Amino acid sequence: MQESSISPSPLAGRHLVLGLSGGIACYKAAELCRALVKAGATVQVVMTDAAAQFITPVTLQALSGRPVYSSQWDAREGNNMAHINLSRQADAIVVAPASADFMAKLLHGGADELLSLMCLARPIERVPLILAPAMNREMYAHPATQRNIAQLRADGSHVLGVGAGEQACGEVGDGRMLEPDELLEELNAFFTPKVLAGQQVLITAGPTYEAIDPVRGITNRSSGKMGFALAQAAWRAGAQVTLVAGPVSLPTPRGVQRLDVQSAQQMQQAVQACVERATVFIASAAVADWRVDGVAEHKIKKGEGGQAPALSFVENPDILAGVAASERARSGQLYCVGFAAESHDLLAHAQAKRQRKGVPLLVGNIGPDTFGRDDNALLLVDEHGSQELARASKAQLAAQLVAIVAQRLKA
Ligand code: C5P
Repeated sequence: MQESSISPSPLAGRHLVLGLSGGIACYKAAELCRALVKAGATVQVVMTDAAAQFITPVTLQALSGRPVYSSQWDAREGNNMAHINLSRQADAIVVAPASADFMAKLLHGGADELLSLMCLARPIERVPLILAPAMNREMYAHPATQRNIAQLRADGSHVLGVGAGEQACGEVGDGRMLEPDELLEELNAFFTPKVLAGQQVLITAGPTYEAIDPVRGITNRSSGKMGFALAQAAWRAGAQVTLVAGPVSLPTPRGVQRLDVQSAQQMQQAVQACVERATVFIASAAVADWRVDGVAEHKIKKGEGGQAPALSFVENPDILAGVAASERARSGQLYCVGFAAESHDLLAHAQAKRQRKGVPLLVGNIGPDTFGRDDNALLLVDEHGSQELARASKAQLAAQLVAIVAQRLKA
C-alpha cells in the first residue's frame, strides 16, 4: 500500500480576500472572518462604504489581523494599485455579504470602488469569485436579481446559498446569507479536490440501540464521529452522500442526506433501501451483534425477590457482509469498506475480519482509544497488506480515507 500524508484543513494556507458589500448580514461576516482565520487561512478584508455603515473596519481588522482596505486610492500601496496587488495575491475573492446592488454592478463590469474593481481586475482563470448573496426576500425574488445571479453564474462566479427564514426586516423568506458555519463548510468543499465526483456514497455510523423494554435497551460507546467525518469528507470531495445514523447527538454534515435509525434491523432496512443506487458503501457503524429476543411490551418491573429478569438474545443480521455478498459488490459496481473496533492484536483481527466480511478494504482501530474522541489512528488492511494512518483528527483521517477510496475506484 502507498504512503499517505496528513492533509490539513482545505483552507489552511489559503489567502482569501473577504469582501463586504452593504447589508445587515455584515455582522455575520465578522464571524466568518474569524472562522477562516481559525481554519488556517489568511484573510484580507475589503469593504465598500455601504458595508462600513453596518460594521466598522476596526472589527474586521482585529479579526483578520490585517488593515482593511476600502478605497482604490489607498496610498499604503507603493504603486497605488490596491486593486491589482490585492487581487493577484488571492486564492479566491469571497464577497459575503453580496448585496443585490453589488451583484448588479458586478454583472455589468462596474468598477467604481475598490471591491468591484478588484472583482473585475482579478485574473479570472486563477482567482475564483465566490458570492454569498444577502437581501430582503422581495429583492431576492425580483426578476432583475434572479437574472443577475443566473448571469453571474454563467460568467463563472460561484453563488452560495441562499438561506431561508426570518429576515432582519421582519419578513420571512429566501434571501438570508448562509450562516458563517455553512459558508465555512462551503468554502472547505470549494477547496477540496472533487475526487468522488459522480459517486453515490452510503455510510453507516454510530451505535445501534436494541430495546429490552420501552424504557431500557442495549447500546455501545460508539459516538458516530468517524462516520460523520467520513460523510463530510465524501461530500466535500463531490459525492452524493447518504448517512444512516444510529442514535447519536451530532449535527448532520452539510449536503448530506441523513436517515436516523435505532436498531440493527432498522439500519439494515435503511441500507437496503439505498444501496442499489450506491457506488461506495462504508460501514463504520458499531452494530450490535445481538438483540433481545422478544422485546417486553411494558417496562419490566423489579421482582419481589430481587430476581433479575432472564434475557435471551438473537443474532442481528450482518449488514456489511450481506451487502458485500451482493451481485453489485462482487461485480465491482459497489466498493465496500468495513471497520473493525478491536482492543488488541489489531492487524491480525483486521485481516481476519476483512476475509470474513468479504470486503476489499477494512479499517481497523483500537476502540477504547477512539470512542467519543475527536482523534483516531487507523490501520488499513487490503489484499496486499496494511497501511497505518497516524493519529490525527477524525476529519483529517476521513479526508485521507476518502482520497484512498477514490484511488481504488480509479484503479
Ligand atoms: O463483526 P464486527 O462488528 O466487528 O464488524 C465490524 C464491521 O462490520 C463494521 O464495518 C460494521 O459496521 C459492520 N457490521 C455490520 N453489521 C453487523 C455487525 C457489523 O454491518 N451486524
